[in-house]
Amino acid sequence: MKKQFIASVAFILVTGLFSTAHAAIDEEAAKATGKRNDCFKCHAIDKTKKGPSYKKVALKYKGNPEAEAKIIKHLTTGPKVKLEDGTEENHKIIDTKDQSEIKNLADWILSL
Ligand code: HEC
Repeated sequence: MKKQFIASVAFILVTGLFSTAHAAIDEEAAKATGKRNDCFKCHAIDKTKKGPSYKKVALKYKGNPEAEAKIIKHLTTGPKVKLEDGTEENHKIIDTKDQSEIKNLADWILSL
């Protein structure tokens, strides 16, 4: 009886976690990560700066199941990018190796 109870609580917790996966984005933490990394020097939420707005990025990846993985790769490998003024440089690599922090930032961008 007790075991069954524990099993059903565990089940509810696990399914609850999955169904709220999207709502679990910590917007404040994502912005803090972005600020600390100077991301907002080149990106704004809805206007183009040296780089595309995050809304534009979210739009580009809309419906793409690999979106999150692509963004994480972009932020951790420093690919060559072209700035709005035409110059090229390697993209900023995020200053953390904390996967959940990077994932939270990527998910926040994609949620815009
Ligand atoms: C020196 C300016 C600059 C800084 C700083 C910068 N970016 Fe970018 N970023 C760009 C440019 C330019 C592009 C456009 C790349 C392209 O489309 O070729 C880009 C593209 C992106 C993309 C879209 C990638 C894709 O696959 O389309 C994301 C997401 C992104 N940046 C996030 C960030 C985050 C998060 C930070 C902070 C860790 C950051 N950027 C810092 C200039 C910058």
